[in-house]
Amino acid sequence: MISSTSSRPTTGKSAFRRSDPESMASSRDLIQQAIRQLPDADAPDLDARWLLAHLLQIDHRDPQLHQDFPIADEVAQTFLEQIGRRARGEPLAHILGEWEFYGHAFEVTPAVLMPRPETELLVEWGLQILADREKPRVAEIGVGSLAVLATLALERTDLIGVGVEICPEALAVAESNRQRHALESRIELRQGSHYDPLEDAFDLIISNPPYIVPGDPLLETAVSTFEPEVALLDHLDGDGLGHYRRLIEGLPGRVHPHGGLLLECGHDQAEAIAELGRKSGWEVEIRRDLSSIPRALHLHSGPHAS
Ligand SMILES: C[S@@+](CC[C@H](N)C(=O)[O-])C[C@H]1O[C@@H](n2cnc3c(N)ncnc32)[C@H](O)[C@@H]1O
Repeated sequence: MISSTSSRPTTGKSAFRRSDPESMASSRDLIQQAIRQLPDADAPDLDARWLLAHLLQIDHRDPQLHQDFPIADEVAQTFLEQIGRRARGEPLAHILGEWEFYGHAFEVTPAVLMPRPETELLVEWGLQILADREKPRVAEIGVGSLAVLATLALERTDLIGVGVEICPEALAVAESNRQRHALESRIELRQGSHYDPLEDAFDLIISNPPYIVPGDPLLETAVSTFEPEVALLDHLDGDGLGHYRRLIEGLPGRVHPHGGLLLECGHDQAEAIAELGRKSGWEVEIRRDLSSIPRALHLHSGPHAS
């Protein structure tokens, strides 16, 4: 999932040059050492190649990584330090400082959730919903890294967006990604909770809010240790649905008559959220992700295609 395109040098050769290759570490030895240090990783060889590729500023699929070549001492030292962090469970995205989502690279730090592949469903569905609207206005509640709203804006170059985020540290990462993708003129960022910072109505509101019940034993240790609690846990009602209730209750007047609310949810929440939506008078569609899990809902007022 990682792309080094934004920082890839034009030749991709500089890190391979060194005056005294005899005394340098070999890439193959380093990768093998890394694999031995990552016995619990799902794909230790991939982790090792990704990290080495990132340090060398080449793509992780570069065939050079399957050859043996000398590695500069400082690169080898940083690589082994990073493998140590990975061995302690730190997510690859945090070590790399960026992560790829829908083919675009985004800065990520421990202040934001690293964008997940299943969240690409929100982008795909959002693009379909907006397909027949010109200059659509979209708001996202809880932007985190800004991956979702920025990707929509990169795919729909006439889209105007407002991103809301409660956490100032996450907002700083969103701002950095807004600049990275030159979206300052089309995406505005506002700090606040849910709809509080929004004054007007939108064609679509998107949110992937925190939905994990505090104390959920299924929450992986790596995730709970390294990813921000404010991005994961529903402390509002404690049943995982608190943010959905607030977003559905506050929706009237926030979207145009043809507009709607597009939500991502946890693996067992879609029906309960759909029920909340229907009780409030919305039509509701549910879509499954690539693992066949009901993962996203579209609440809207009309029978239009979604
Ligand atoms: C699950 S993360 C989603 C991040 C990003 N949109 C994504 O899909 O990768 C939820 C985000 O909502 C933010 N958040 C939590 N409570 C919020 C609230 N009341 N209002 C706005 N944002 C909130 C968190 O800080 C976090 O960045």
